[in-house]
Amino acid sequence: MGTGGTRALIVDETGRILASATEEHAPFASPQIGWAEQNPEDWWRACGIAARKALAGAALRPDQIACVGFSGQMHGAVMLDDADKVVRPALIWCDVRTEKQCRELTDKIGAQKLIRLTCNPALPNFTLTKFLWVRENEPQNWKRVRSVMLPKDYVRFRLTGERATDMADASGTLLLDVANRRWSQEVMQAAGIEESLLPQLFESPDTCGKISPSGAVASGLRAGTPVVAGAGDQAAGAVGMGIAAPGAVSATIGTSGVVFAATDRPSLDARGRLHTFCHAVPGRWHVMGVTQAAGLSLRWFRDTLGAGTVDANDKRDPYERLTAEAAVVAPGSDGLLWAPYLMGERTPHLDPNARAALIGLTASHTRGHIVRAILEGVAFSLRDSFTLFAEMGVPVKSIRLGGGGARSPLWRQIQADAYGHEVEILEAEEGAGYGAAILAGVGAGVWSSVDAACNKVVRVAQRVAPQRAVVERMNTSYAAYRRMYPAIASVLGTG
Ligand code: XUL
Repeated sequence: MGTGGTRALIVDETGRILASATEEHAPFASPQIGWAEQNPEDWWRACGIAARKALAGAALRPDQIACVGFSGQMHGAVMLDDADKVVRPALIWCDVRTEKQCRELTDKIGAQKLIRLTCNPALPNFTLTKFLWVRENEPQNWKRVRSVMLPKDYVRFRLTGERATDMADASGTLLLDVANRRWSQEVMQAAGIEESLLPQLFESPDTCGKISPSGAVASGLRAGTPVVAGAGDQAAGAVGMGIAAPGAVSATIGTSGVVFAATDRPSLDARGRLHTFCHAVPGRWHVMGVTQAAGLSLRWFRDTLGAGTVDANDKRDPYERLTAEAAVVAPGSDGLLWAPYLMGERTPHLDPNARAALIGLTASHTRGHIVRAILEGVAFSLRDSFTLFAEMGVPVKSIRLGGGGARSPLWRQIQADAYGHEVEILEAEEGAGYGAAILAGVGAGVWSSVDAACNKVVRVAQRVAPQRAVVERMNTSYAAYRRMYPAIASVLGTG
């Protein structure tokens, strides 16, 4: 259950996708700058349609479905009243209205202590301060709240009647004691949130209920079909790419960019520049760095400046045209550098006011140079997460690429050269829903563990090696890239 829509996948015991179907959600509402709200009823509507369509597409009987898994957009605040009706639209992950509540909570608990208790700092993206905002600004709504849950867990609730969540998704609430995999009594007490409001915690592949008769009517599934806890979209997506054991790392470039590493302990950055969450694999954790505007940098360039005059006979996609121009430019873009802070930045700067810049232009630079500089700048921004991993001793044995950044041969090579590490491309990358299906398969006993499932169904199609001479050039550019953020902040008086 993503932000834009819900996708249902039916996967067999060999990992093959038998059918899939998608139903879009209504776009999120943004009644004020920085606000983002969705109606949980709309997610439930989309779930029913997508599940029914997928079942019909696979021509399967509902009793042939062994188990159901979930993944979903993380961090959203769903609030229900005593009749289990939605109290107000959910404040979702990209809603950042709670800077004040974050500051107050941090002052109350202490920045270092909060990181010790939850492994993370208070960011407006995380769920807890969304509840605090509603309590402060809409007391009449908060008074009616009897239970709270995360977005995918609302769909689970409608399907099964159970109030449940998984450790990975719960990690993004700021209410979880991530190191000990339980709700944090200290944080609940400091924030004045009763434990009775919160769902029950499960490990991702654990069975936590079954489809209810009313859930069956809405979805076409059989009443009684077991359901596992599942995971937040990042952890589920990682499982779908085989990022389960320490040493396995993914670098995914979608609109945003995420570098995700599985760990066998909760590795912490003392300044909270990376998210440290429980993994969807029992007994494991993960660290994750987020670049706000990764693919978005290229899309922004294409939409605002990039298209230029187009030869009517040129049928190529605009991205293909732009990257073809970038491919003939030498690595290093003849000294041109892109700082991708179009939407502020999470990792490593934690600065919502960071701004982007293109630095080093001369009259001989072409559009291809600019595109190449953007591709390189985004890769450097992901490399910042690898730099933090190295400081924290997080092992990086293999790097798997995902998202649009894995589909472009040029961006693959740029990433291998910028990271100075071989990168792997998967045979099929099906996103978080595929990870949810793997977790369901483990819950149903189809595979003995998440590791066993990943070894069985996730296959590497291609490996791209870094080019030694280019790596040196990229190291020099990366050193220059690192000097841009403080310089921009000083010029603009931000940061
Ligand atoms: C993770 C995050 C996103 C959302 C939306 O921290 O903010 O992955 O889950 O997809």
